Amino acid sequence: MLDQLIVPVFQAPMAGVSNPVLAAAVTNAGGLGALGFGASTWTEAEAAMNAFRAISEGPVHVNFFCHEEPKRDSAIEKSWIRRFNKEFEILCISPPTALANPYDSSQRDEQLIDFARTYTPETISFHFGLPNGNIVEALKSNGTNVLTSVTNLNDAMSALDAGTDGLIAQGIEAGGHLGTFDARHDDAMSTKDLVAELKRLIDVPIIAAGGIMTGADIQEMLSSGAVACQLGTAFLLCPEASTNADYRHQIKQANSNDTVITRAISGRAARGIKNRITHIGAATSSGDIPDYPISYDLAKHLNAIATEQGVSGYGAYWAGTGVAEARETAASALVATLAQELAAVRTEAVR
Ligand SMILES: Cc1cc2nc3c(=O)[nH]c(=O)nc-3n(C[C@H](O)[C@H](O)[C@H](O)COP(=O)(O)O)c2cc1C
Repeated sequence: MLDQLIVPVFQAPMAGVSNPVLAAAVTNAGGLGALGFGASTWTEAEAAMNAFRAISEGPVHVNFFCHEEPKRDSAIEKSWIRRFNKEFEILCISPPTALANPYDSSQRDEQLIDFARTYTPETISFHFGLPNGNIVEALKSNGTNVLTSVTNLNDAMSALDAGTDGLIAQGIEAGGHLGTFDARHDDAMSTKDLVAELKRLIDVPIIAAGGIMTGADIQEMLSSGAVACQLGTAFLLCPEASTNADYRHQIKQANSNDTVITRAISGRAARGIKNRITHIGAATSSGDIPDYPISYDLAKHLNAIATEQGVSGYGAYWAGTGVAEARETAASALVATLAQELAAVRTEAVR
């Protein structure tokens, strides 16, 4: 898995933010570029793979969501919509009458197998769990390296039982959704503690994720037992990323206290920059929030209308606790800088 990498840096797959140009820039610079297909259609995923292969001959990592399908509850969903009445008033629009499921889980989607055979991504990772055993077996027998994000020891053990080749150890500092298998479970392990604990107990490659922004951070994770690090927030200001202008502006203003873990945007715990929706979520018990990803439908709807009107404050601007250290530089330059910083810390350590 790591033989082709010059730098032990995985760019995180980020649905909506990663794209073939960013992924290819990272891979071509010696890291591992990634594409997040959790919210994509198969046609979109295929087009992205073709676009990546057209500009890079190197490896790519692709990612899918394996959440439990949501339990629909119209009473909870209607009451959730009502909580946003004031926001709809501010935006001068009528609230939706119902919510929809924005995308399906890949848990049982056998099309994953055909996709892997046709496009041969070197690595496939899953978030929120793993697909069923037949799919994992078929991917592995196709030579694909199968990874899963985990945020706790129980999920790590289940992932190993299910045949995962390695674990992405995602700590509480991470931007985006926590990959915890059970949506009701709350985890709070730091990336470093999680990596060290997993290293003590298991014997598969561990990729550290969460709050890693510099070469020194990477070295700290390697010293704790990781073989590589997955960075998301660090890439958000790269010009190649699909981060929109308002998102970029907020990242540049933010410090680590401006990020919060909320279920209110999507229905699952995720870390992002505070906004009007996270504010409402802070006053809501999680049982009142529709299941993931049904809540996301409301958040996406509100944000689409607000964006049309030039109003900020509703975007799902996922970012980790390291947000203030995000660097506005080309992805290839960022990978090179991380490599230099890592080399410098190592040299310092042997002196
Ligand atoms: C904007 C954004 C979107 C993300 N989307 C995904 C995703 O689609 N799939 C996934 O497995 N992880 C996703 N993540 C989480 C990353 O894989 C990774 O765990 C996280 O970025 C590490 O923390 P950091 O942001 O502090 O580097 C996302 C993270 C961010 C910041």
